[in-house]
Amino acid sequence: MDYRASTKQLIVFSIDLYRDRGSDMIEPENHREPESPDPDEIRRKHGEEMRNRFGRDMFNDFDIDDPRFGDNLFPILDEMLEKCPVARSHVGSGYWVVSRNADVRRIGQDWRTFSSAKGYQPNRPAGLPYLMPEESDPPKHTAWRDVLNPHLSPRAVAKYDAQIRADANTLIDRFIDRGECEFISEFGAKLPGWAFFKNVLGVPVDDLDQLVQGVHNGTFAPREERPAHFGKVFEYLGNYLTFRRDQPPRGDLVDTIAAGVEYEPGVLCPWEDRVSILVDLTFGGIATTTYVMAASLHYLATHPGVREALVDDPGSMDRAVEEFVRVFPPVVALGRTCTREVEVAGTKMKQGDFVLLNYAASSRDPRVVQEPTKIDITRESVLHSAFGVGVHRCIGSNLARLELKATFEEWLKRIPDFAVKGGTGPTYETGILRVMKQLHLVF
Ligand code: HEM
Repeated sequence: MDYRASTKQLIVFSIDLYRDRGSDMIEPENHREPESPDPDEIRRKHGEEMRNRFGRDMFNDFDIDDPRFGDNLFPILDEMLEKCPVARSHVGSGYWVVSRNADVRRIGQDWRTFSSAKGYQPNRPAGLPYLMPEESDPPKHTAWRDVLNPHLSPRAVAKYDAQIRADANTLIDRFIDRGECEFISEFGAKLPGWAFFKNVLGVPVDDLDQLVQGVHNGTFAPREERPAHFGKVFEYLGNYLTFRRDQPPRGDLVDTIAAGVEYEPGVLCPWEDRVSILVDLTFGGIATTTYVMAASLHYLATHPGVREALVDDPGSMDRAVEEFVRVFPPVVALGRTCTREVEVAGTKMKQGDFVLLNYAASSRDPRVVQEPTKIDITRESVLHSAFGVGVHRCIGSNLARLELKATFEEWLKRIPDFAVKGGTGPTYETGILRVMKQLHLVF
């Protein structure tokens, strides 16, 4: 198997990292899979081995919410990539998990066969309001993205840079003299929310903690409790959108959302969909970037050589940010529903089957990334699927990159030397998203 990146791949990660790219991945050239044996046989063959190693047969009996998956995340992803292109889950009504880069890419790009309109999570709890644009397909999805994208383009978000850096410093000021901090509560869970609330939504940040908690519980609480937690987030943001609708326009993203889009000529979308757009953006804006920040700082705290290299060569920051997003993916996997019978890597899926796109795995696929398990901030080419693939590709990726770059640069300026506090270590929670719960740093 040829693991070398092709010339075409090298070109994709161009000098201009902030260019709005349609996709972060490209088709590997000249790559041919070996003849694949029966996928059921592969799953069966390795099932026992997985059970012995991880306490659960992650190939035939996968559960994204099983703590054993989160505790062994990267070894399990690598096993899936090597041995099991499509894993099976029997949890609830069951689902498939597709891991290899080429398969994830194919599914992400084929929204007609793999629809988002029935939700992004497996066994979607009853009563959970739908999130737009995430849980919709074209043409509704296109109508929304067309009006939302300009507000989050590289150029649009660049004007928030100074404010984000000032906020990073305000947060650092609060703990720097103490010589230690709990990074998540004192910085990581705050900065992305501040960046989004102050700059994009134009609201005060007083209620941010409540929204962060609502989104967290809506994602990780027992399934039957999730709708109530998300319900509170809908209520809060619905009130804000109503308030803004009745205010003079500011020409911002919120005005665009409040004005709505037409789903058909002359047919304006319902008000609930506009609130849902605001919720989805807030969800994306506060639930993801924190993990990349925290996991990267943990890595830098434990790898002084890499930290020094970044301080000595600030020009390497863009590549470092991209590599950190690749290796510390906050979105582990999101799903689609098959609209017809289809075959993926030899596995037959029926109409109505739910399939998870294992974004976290596909960013580590040796078929497209050289030495994928190695964290290398000097990579010439950083190909990953951490921001998704196809029409649903992350709308907030430019803002996320800006927040990450500002955080690392301002942090290293003020706190170039730091370590994990003795006797502590990071703690995580993992499901469709991965979050770090605590990180104690000393400096
Ligand atoms: C490092 C940070 C982030 C990562 C890794 C990330 C990852 C992703 C991924 C994988 C998707 C694709 C979903 C799918 O395939 O169904 C996505 C979509 C989305 N993201 Fe992000 N995201 C990040 C930051 C943000 C931010 C800062 C915002 C808001 C400003 C945001 C808002 C959204 C929204 C609204 C969607 C749905 C887009 C659609 O369905 O068209 N994300 N994100």
